[in-house]
Amino acid sequence: MATVLEQLLALAAAGTMLISSSLTAAAPQNDVDGLLFLQNRQWRVSKYYEPKTIKAAVPGQLQDMRADAAAALEEMFAACKEDIGVTLKAVSGYRSYQRQSTIYSNKVDRVGSKEKADEYVARPGASEHQLGLAMDVGQKSDDVNLTSSFGKTKGGKWVAEHCWEYGFILRYKEGWEDVTGYSYEPWHVRYVGKEYAAMIHENEMPLEHFLLLIRQDALMEIVLGSNEEVAAP
Ligand code: DAL
Ligand code: ZN
Repeated sequence: MATVLEQLLALAAAGTMLISSSLTAAAPQNDVDGLLFLQNRQWRVSKYYEPKTIKAAVPGQLQDMRADAAAALEEMFAACKEDIGVTLKAVSGYRSYQRQSTIYSNKVDRVGSKEKADEYVARPGASEHQLGLAMDVGQKSDDVNLTSSFGKTKGGKWVAEHCWEYGFILRYKEGWEDVTGYSYEPWHVRYVGKEYAAMIHENEMPLEHFLLLIRQDALMEIVLGSNEEVAAP
């Protein structure tokens, strides 16, 4: 039998359920170490938050991520190599509050205003990179890395199609700008674990919307009585 969450996802996919497109609509998850913790322009973490990270054994630089995410990244890079012969590389994984602060300031200097910089770079405390769950993925020829062109490469297309199989989601897809608050980033993957990644991929929705559904599911469980099959995160 379909769980309440699956029923809600089916309703959303069929367009029969109205989901607000507002960035502010999704409520934050309480557990900062949880896989579904929402980190966006609205919901931020303390400058003191530092996850435990390890260095993923993949080519590139700045490979640090939380252990579960690092293992999944290794698995994904190996699968891409095996599948299409493309060597992916890490460009930027875990970033401290301070590091994000520097990246943000540099971006403001480059583009000339905070308003413009906000389209591309999260303010310190607002980046998923501080959670240790995000990786900017690139490929060998650096010229396309961290540009929308990465999405047109063999590796970029493979990542978009397959990252969910390893527990990652593409967080900033084209067309989701009003919800996520950021422009298209085909290189930024966020680890949520295989179970949630599969659901989010299948229903093609931003994490903000998925979390709304999860919340409604938790509410429905309370209203309808227990539903053992779905545990709210
Ligand atoms: N580029 C993404 C939004 C970040 O800075 O976390
Ligand atoms: Zn990123």
